[in-house]
Amino acid sequence: MTPRLKAPKGTHDLWPRDAERFAAVEAVARRVFGGHGYGEIRTPTFESTELFARSVGETTDIVHKEMYTFPDRKGRSLTLRPENTAGVVRALVEKGLQDLPRPIRLWYAGPQFRYEQPQAGRYREFRQIGVELMGVASAAGDAEVVGMLFRFLRELGLSDAVATINCIPRGAAREAFSRALRDHVRPQAERLGGEDRKRLEENPLRLFDSKDPEARRILEGAPATLNFLDEASRAHHEELKRLLSSARVPFTESASIVRGIDYYTLTVFEVASRRLGAQNAILGGGRYDDLVAALGGPPTPAVGFAIGEDRLVEAMTADVRPPRSLFFVIPTSPLEFSYALGVADEIRECALEAVVEVDLSGRGLGKGLARAAQVLGDGSDYAHRVEAVRAVILGSKEREDDTVTVKDLATKQQESFPRRDLPERLAGRER
Ligand code: HAM
Repeated sequence: MTPRLKAPKGTHDLWPRDAERFAAVEAVARRVFGGHGYGEIRTPTFESTELFARSVGETTDIVHKEMYTFPDRKGRSLTLRPENTAGVVRALVEKGLQDLPRPIRLWYAGPQFRYEQPQAGRYREFRQIGVELMGVASAAGDAEVVGMLFRFLRELGLSDAVATINCIPRGAAREAFSRALRDHVRPQAERLGGEDRKRLEENPLRLFDSKDPEARRILEGAPATLNFLDEASRAHHEELKRLLSSARVPFTESASIVRGIDYYTLTVFEVASRRLGAQNAILGGGRYDDLVAALGGPPTPAVGFAIGEDRLVEAMTADVRPPRSLFFVIPTSPLEFSYALGVADEIRECALEAVVEVDLSGRGLGKGLARAAQVLGDGSDYAHRVEAVRAVILGSKEREDDTVTVKDLATKQQESFPRRDLPERLAGRER
């Protein structure tokens, strides 16, 4: 027997019901971010492997063990993007960032790929919605991005979200922090696994990504990032906190948020949801002032975030899909098909947001009405979010008289009227 084909491990299909929820979330993103002057960018799903090694960082888990990397037919090393910030920066540098008016405000939505151990909320193909603001060095840039993020979350009904923020030292201060971290961990290094010992020597900040409970215990008493900030960084952090408070963005501080990507400088933040299980980080972001220059562009401060769209949709309790009216057009025999298809198109023109389905079975009125009632009660993955269902019954009498008979399935009320009255009857009333 031929083995059954299955979706690859860590991927999942989005059926219409879920796809509609994702589309509705993306529509809110487009409206909220667009309303702040952010334009949408779509970058390639795969990029040169070198891009991620140089931005996300060689010693991060993402680059080290989670990338889908493959040679193309000409032997070039390509990688399915594990995140989108690197691609956005690459696109801007390639376009000539120095010639663009600043600041540059962009957002994106799309699939990302990481070879992780799948579990609830953690996939190998997942979707992100992200934002990047380039060319603003002051804390006002961070505050714009985080304030906009909270407006977006509120619109989706996630009004209990709280940001956790931290500030990661830059330059010489970062070196000093890394040294202090090493000094703290080294005396207990024999209790660490091989990988964490490597992290300790190569990039001690990455120890915070360790999932080993022993490593976590050692880090509990570790030096705090905030004690290593130089004066300018400390002022940036204090200013951000002041701006967030006056914008009424709920936040707390935590020294253990360092994020699993190397490009961050100064501000980093995350938002978790109590509604999710172990994989509860809905989003993460921060400032990356050195990345544009590292990828060959002019020095450009930048800040952004990316939301895990799959986790966001799982955490949402409100159904953001707009409810729609359904017209179920029933030709009572195949003789009425042509009339029915014409009437269905007219209804679509009058009621732009309505769902207009034609019963193509030709099995008569009784079966047609039964199917319409089924659609109303349908909670399956395939279902629309339908609020009112009207059956549009088209038999030989309607075809001959050029009329339509409309039956409201909830009230059971039925009326017949001339087909030419459809626009007037439906105008402004239907979604
Ligand atoms: P990140 O923290 O690696 O940051 O990912 C952001 C979010 O993507 C996470 O908080 C999580 O919700 C979601 N996510 C990550 N991995 C998975 C997975 N395997 N399955 C499901 N969801 C996942 C970034 O990617 C940065 N580019 C964010 C950023 C933008 N920083 C500045 N600008």
